[in-house]
Parts: sequence; structure tokens; C-alpha cells
Amino acid sequence: MVTLFFDVIPSTNLFLKENYSKYDNLTCVVANHQTNGRGRFNRQWLDSDDLLFSILIKNIDYLAPSYSLRIASSILKVFKTYGLKPLIKWPNDIIVNNKKVCGILLEAVTKEKMECLIIGVGINCNSTLFSEDLKIKASSLKNELKNDINKKELLSLIQKQFIDDLNNNDDYLTSIRDNSYLDNKKVSFVYQGQERVGIVKGYSSDGLIIIQSDNEELTISSGEITLQNIY
Ligand code: BTN
Repeated sequence: MVTLFFDVIPSTNLFLKENYSKYDNLTCVVANHQTNGRGRFNRQWLDSDDLLFSILIKNIDYLAPSYSLRIASSILKVFKTYGLKPLIKWPNDIIVNNKKVCGILLEAVTKEKMECLIIGVGINCNSTLFSEDLKIKASSLKNELKNDINKKELLSLIQKQFIDDLNNNDDYLTSIRDNSYLDNKKVSFVYQGQERVGIVKGYSSDGLIIIQSDNEELTISSGEITLQNIY
């Protein structure tokens, strides 16, 4: 995988959104620090000694939304090799010991057709200080492992795993199903503009989440799923 390293950049996702035409499929952009890092719902994504990268997908061989689950599954496998017990919080977070350590932001550039996908990944690596309100819901690999993380090594393991998984059309769904953070949990979510509550039942064959709510089984393609009573 061709990898471009930046010390400081506004956002690796933004860089690829603006420059995708100059780069090949599977180019990876990495930054030590972002000045305008973004998460889902355009939230600010702050960093400190974290692993921040984006991968450009020009050969969109699979269902576009599946790429966020595919990378999550590859990262999950790599985290396990560190001795962690990671879980996936559909569709884009990785949770260790009930706290978020990794977020994924999948974006598409669309003109007449879909030009490319950009998979942005932020992994809390060596940050140890979290604000009071973040502390209960976020952590870092270093906090969980009590070890410094070599970010270059971690990136290279994730890149290798992801390429392998893409080439083999890896069974990411089994990975998601077997390592699901939300299974049987009570969640709130917005469905057709309405705030609802339900119990997560699993995932459909195309990676959508299935939630039992008021005697109905709803299949949801995206949006925010919030755990009731936790976050
Ligand atoms: C989320 O949890 O909301 C997703 C966070 C994604 C953050 C990463 S950091 C690298 C890439 N560049 C960005 O601006 N965002 C993603």
C-alpha cells in the first residue's frame, strides 16, 4: 500500500477528498496531527499521539457501506494480536473494555457516479489523559495495555490485514456478528425521523443492524445507535 506521511494536515479524509484524482486505489494518507479532524455527524475529532489515517478506495468492488465494517473487522483482528478483547459497535466504532478506542468515518465522493470511497480511521493510541466527560466513554490502547504503542507498526499490520481481507472477500459479517458490542442491548435510535428505543437482535446479510422495537423488527442502514443508560 502506498503511504503518504504528513506531520500536520487539516484532515487525512479531507486531503483525499480533494486529491483523490491524483492517487491510485489503496493509497493511504497518515498524519501525526490533524488541525481539522472530523468524526461522524461532522463532529470535531481531537487527537494527541494517535494513529490517524485514511485509505482511498477507487475500485469499489463491494457494497459501499460494507467498507466501514470491513475495515472494522480487519482492525479487530489486529487488536486481538495485541492481547485486547475488542468489540465492534455497529457501524463504525471499536470498543475495548466498554470504551471507544477507534472511530471510523467512511465518506464517498460522488459526481455523476461514485468516484471513490475514503475510509478514515482514528485510533486512540498513546493518549492517556481524557477529560472528565470523555473518560467514561473513551480510552486508548496504551491505557488498556499499559504499554506504549508503536504507531508505524500498528499501521502496517492494519494495512496488511485489510488488503488480505479485501483480496479474500473476507467474511466480515461473521466477524461483526461474533464480536458485536450491541447484541441484546437496549438502544435508542432515530427511525423515519422518530426517536425510538429497542433491543439489538443482530445483523442482516448486507450488514444492516436489526432492532426489535414495539413488536416490530426494524432493519437500519445507518445513523447513530445510542446505548441506553450508558452512552
Ligand atoms: C467517528 O468516530 O466519528 C469517526 C472518527 C474518524 C476520525 C478519523 S482520524 C483520520 C480521518 N481524518 C478525519 O478527519 N477523520 C478520520
